[in-house]
Amino acid sequence: MTFHRGLHRFAVLTAFSTFLLIIAGGLVTSTGSGLSVPDWPNTYGRFMFAYPIDDMVGGIFYEHSHRMIASVVGFLTVILTIWVWRREQRRWVKNLTLLALLSVILQGVLGGITVLYLLPTAVSVAHATLAQTFFVLVSSIALVTSRWWIERPSPAPGTASPGQASLTTLAAGASLMVWVQLVLGAVMRHTASGLAVPDFPLAYGSLFPSLSPQALQHYTETLIRDDIRIAADGPVAAGQIFIHLLHRYWGIFTGAVLCWTAVRSMRSPGRVPRLGGLGSIMAVLTLLQVSLGAATVLLRKPVEVATAHVALGAFLLVVSVLTALHAYRLSGHRGFVPATLAREGVS
Ligand code: HEM
Ligand code: HEM
Repeated sequence: MTFHRGLHRFAVLTAFSTFLLIIAGGLVTSTGSGLSVPDWPNTYGRFMFAYPIDDMVGGIFYEHSHRMIASVVGFLTVILTIWVWRREQRRWVKNLTLLALLSVILQGVLGGITVLYLLPTAVSVAHATLAQTFFVLVSSIALVTSRWWIERPSPAPGTASPGQASLTTLAAGASLMVWVQLVLGAVMRHTASGLAVPDFPLAYGSLFPSLSPQALQHYTETLIRDDIRIAADGPVAAGQIFIHLLHRYWGIFTGAVLCWTAVRSMRSPGRVPRLGGLGSIMAVLTLLQVSLGAATVLLRKPVEVATAHVALGAFLLVVSVLTALHAYRLSGHRGFVPATLAREGVS
């Protein structure tokens, strides 16, 4: 397998475009524009690419531009898949692009279904989750087609560092925790639980607030008094508070594990600059992400802050997965290394 600059750059472009798409999607939800365009695949009865730019106003701007950017990403993924299938020798890389292609198709269909069925929670949550999972897939393709991944010699048999292997496990575990956290975040966003607890770091003045009917009545009155809820919304549900707290506490625990992973990456055996860089980025992003989560609550979900929290969450997920993949590659596992280089076994 030889490094192909054009292919790698194209994979990076696809990953970057996906990040922009996640921001655009986050804006659709944060601005409540999900049903501004009620039909799909058309836009107000017109072929979507023929929809006049002048008519893209208000929520239509967010929803329609999200669909347009999604089409571009879908198109880029098709080209990436064809390109990889023509040039790649590694079967698993080919399969990875196929998985990415299937994901982007399913994602488009989920987007359409969520509109046609008026944003059912399960479909919106699945759409939010698959978006970030797809971002992980294309970012991983960008990494495994890079010069670093392909041309870096593998450690000779028996000389691989156990430190890299344990860092792989740690970073993979942290990635899984961030993924669970994003599912909890998506459930929170699509069940309107983001402000079910209006204070931070405490929750209604305590760490684990009571969920008794009297307490829920009192919380509802507090939310109405603070203009977070209107009486017509009905009482806040125990489930909303529960999911909010689960995301909050799992987020803080995940944040601690990410900080530990970041320190381990920075001190990785041989002080590999790439792992050090990823570790620093992970540490900064983690602190920023937890602060943005708190700010989302305390500032009452401003569109920019909530969307930045979604986007940074996606970025953090990718950084942790890429860290795990870097550590895996450095630990010298043969399965993912081109056979010719693995045979050379140079450290
Ligand atoms: C590559 C394809 C796509 C990706 C990666 C993607 C990504 C996203 C993301 C990240 C969100 C925000 C979720 C959240 O904040 O919880 C979102 C929301 C949304 N997307 Fe997509 N999307 C894609 C395609 C589509 C398509 C084709 C449609 C067609 C209608 C669509 C319709 C929507 C709608 C309606 C929402 C708002 C859902 C809600 O507020 O409940 N998406 N998308
Ligand atoms: C590592 C830590 C964290 C990560 C990775 C993370 C990630 C996310 C993600 C990805 C979403 C949106 C999911 C989606 O719809 O696509 C979300 C939503 C949310 N997160 Fe976090 N989060 C973290 C910590 C926190 C903390 C500590 C808080 C503090 C309360 C918090 C508060 C929120 C809120 C309020 C929402 C919903 C926003 C809305 O309804 O618009 N997050 N989180």
